[in-house]
Formats: sequence, C-alpha cells, structure tokens
Amino acid sequence: MTPPVSDALVFFGATGDLAYKMIFPALQAMIRRGNLNVPIIGVAKAGWTIEQLRERARNSLKEHGGGADDAAFEKLTSLLMYIDGDYRDDRTFDLLRQSLGPSEHPLHYLAIPSSMFATVAHQLGRSGCAKGARVVIEKPFGRDLATAQALNGDLLEVFQEPAIFRVDHYLGKEPVQNLLYFRFANSFLEPIWNRNFVRSVQITMAENFGVQGRGPMYEETGAIRDVVQNHMLQVIASLAMEAPSSGSPESIRDARARVLEAIQPADPANVVLGQFRGYHVEKGVAPDSKVETFAALRLEIASWRWAGVPFYIRAGKSLPVTCTEVLVDLDAPPLSIFREERLTRSDTNYVRFRLGPDVAIALGVRSKVPGEGMAGQRVELLAVSKVVGQMGPYERLLGDAMKGDATLFAREDMVEAEWRVIDRLLGSSIPVHEYEPGTWGPAEADRIIDSSDSWHNPTLSPN
Ligand code: BG6
Repeated sequence: MTPPVSDALVFFGATGDLAYKMIFPALQAMIRRGNLNVPIIGVAKAGWTIEQLRERARNSLKEHGGGADDAAFEKLTSLLMYIDGDYRDDRTFDLLRQSLGPSEHPLHYLAIPSSMFATVAHQLGRSGCAKGARVVIEKPFGRDLATAQALNGDLLEVFQEPAIFRVDHYLGKEPVQNLLYFRFANSFLEPIWNRNFVRSVQITMAENFGVQGRGPMYEETGAIRDVVQNHMLQVIASLAMEAPSSGSPESIRDARARVLEAIQPADPANVVLGQFRGYHVEKGVAPDSKVETFAALRLEIASWRWAGVPFYIRAGKSLPVTCTEVLVDLDAPPLSIFREERLTRSDTNYVRFRLGPDVAIALGVRSKVPGEGMAGQRVELLAVSKVVGQMGPYERLLGDAMKGDATLFAREDMVEAEWRVIDRLLGSSIPVHEYEPGTWGPAEADRIIDSSDSWHNPTLSPN
C-alpha cells in the first residue's frame, strides 16, 4: 500500500540555524519543482511575528538558497504560518493542533537540540498532533549507545518506528546514492568486490575549514560523534552491504543494518585522534579542550565477504582541501610477467569514488607505454558527472519523508549498530595529537595503516 503523503509540514526550530541554512532553501527548491503545496508551520520561541519569519526566510534564501525566486517565495510565504511558543507549554501544541486544521498526516521536523526531542514528542502526543503523523529528527541521535536507546524509547512512546525519519544527510547526497546504484546496477564489480580482490578501502572526509563558530556544539561532539558515527559508517555500509533482496525501503535498510552490525567495535589501538592548532582559541571552546577535530580509524567487517580487509576512515577539520573520497585498492596481479618493471604498491588497480564537492568515479589501471619495452604507466579511466540543478540532500530527504519513503533514513537498529562500533572510543584515553592547520592531520595516523600501504590524499584537480 502506498503510504499517504503528508498534508502539512511543521518545523520546530523555525528561527534557528538549521532552518536558516537548510530547511528554507529546501522548501523553496521543493516549491520550484512543484513538490510542495501544503500548509507549512514554523514553530519557535523567539518572540517573533510571521513578518519576521518571512524576512528570515528571504535572508536564508539569499545566503543559502541561491537567491529568492519571486514566484516560489511568494508561494512559500502564502503557505507559511508561524507559532511562537515554548515547547514545554501545552498552549503551543494546542494552538498547533488548531492551526493544522483538517490535516490528518502532518510531518513534524524537529530542527531543535536533541535534548528537546522527548519533550516535543510527548507534547505532540498529548495534543493529538502525533496522530497519523511522521516525525523527522536530526543527529545527534544520542551521545552514545545508551542515550541513543533511551531517546528511541522516548520517541517510540509516541510514534511507531515507520513514522520516525532519522536524517543522515549523507544518505541524501546524489554521489552516495550512486555508490549503491553503481554497485548493483553493474555486473563487472560484483566478482571482485570482496576479500579475494580488495586489499583495502579508504574513506577520507576532509574539510579545509575549522568549526565555523560552532565551537560549543563541537565541544559536545568531536569528529567521531559528528561525522564518523553517522556519515562515514553509512558510506561504508553503501560500499560493503550485500545486495538487498529488492529495491524496497526495508530491503535496502535491512541490508545496510546487517553490514553495520558486522563492523567490529573500533579498537582504540587502531584509532588516532588529532586537534588542529588553534582550535582551543575558537569561541566557545575550552582552553584545555581535548576534543578531536581529526580522527583516523582502522575498522574490520566480520563477514565472509570482507574478513581481513581493512576499512580506513579519516575525517578532519582544517585539512588541506574540502573533499570526500573513497579509494578501493585492489590486489596486485599474482605474477609479474613484464620483467622490465617492478610494480610497487602504488601501481595496483583501484576504484575511486569522489563523493564531493564534485562527483566522479575513476578506475586506476595500468597501460603500456608505447615503445619497445613492455613497461607501463598507471592511467585513470575517469567519469565525471557535471549535472546542474540536481536535488540537494535536504530537498530530497524532506520530499521523501513527506511521501513516507524511508529508504534514505537511518533506522534505529542501524543507529545502534553505528554506536556499537564507536562506543568503546567515547570517553577513552586515546591521546589527541596536535596538527598544523592545512596539513593531513597528525603524522601518528600513519601508524594504523599497513606498512605496505599509505594514506591516499585526495586532490581537487583534475575533476
Ligand atoms: C555535518 C557535520 O553533519 O556534516 C559538519 O556536523 C560537517 O561538521 C558536515 O561539516 C559536512 O556535510 P557536507 O554536506 O557539507 O559535506
């Protein structure tokens, strides 16, 4: 049965940062594509009027939405309502229920600190706003396994699992979806996509900026909670999962959950943490902060397909470039037939997926150099996608949630499996090494990579 489409969109935290940076631009994009024509209700406690919220929306579109499109903006303002009220106050939610009018399937987007999720969920339940509704929440889904389970317990008191949509915006990214497509819509990859041919997998998420004024939030998270527990592990899931039994949301999420469950808890001995020099003078950061802005991990997946293949993750702020890239290194040929050349580790085949800022898939192969000898060089077969006007992750995810399509959302068992991978690292005494901004993190990160291997540092060109 096709799930009903949400007939109203409520977003809590309407005056906040996430709404400003992501939600208003996504709403405008949905309207432009003709995908949104239901009441939109912003809720916040700011003492604002609807005019102030409209002004905020206009500024948001200017700064983050490529400018306000007159027709789409007019439509947005005609759909937009605003409720100013405290989330602890019953009246806020009674007014919301009234404003929802005949809506039977509202979507509630909780763009608020996770400490308020339970309060808002319970108020939605009490006021009747949760009936037939969906709820969308943003990471962090807890601070560790125990708090994630507690949070889920709170949500499940009001909403059933199929009505809970947990955003991991990486899953909404076109190149991350393409990982799955590329793997399962082609046949040439499957025979080599396993421990018999793959030597190692590296995922680098590099950002060439610091914490951009988000010091207080970052102090609570650090790189592992911020991007490893969620985005990086979901990228591993896309790379390593088995073929789902069908393209249905639950088949895909089952396959993801299974591989996430097979990732072994990270061993602190295989983790290197770093902090860029200057982090502790950022606003809202403790002068003696030991929070990591860089993490390098070596993980293993205990499955027949992947046993023994190292999966390396590196994520960091203030690195040389902003770029996310996957490198799947393949084994060398079994024999060296061409005696003129001594192939080294860096001459072997690979598959490279660029996940951002641009999108590319490349195969690293060897090809003969013209001439008498049988010697070659490594060349890259590169496919670059330059699609303009594609959906951003938030537009995609909001649209999917409105339609009740959970394919690209994290399910509770996935979230818990992710926490299990990193739980041992949280609060452990792994040293945090200082690194210079603009470098690839602390040199100690080399320690966790096999001696025959080295880190692959993505560059911004060519592609
Ligand atoms: C967010 C993290 O989830 O992802 C940020 O909190 C990070 O620290 C961001 O910068 C990266 O997302 P994107 O889409 O810009 O690659």
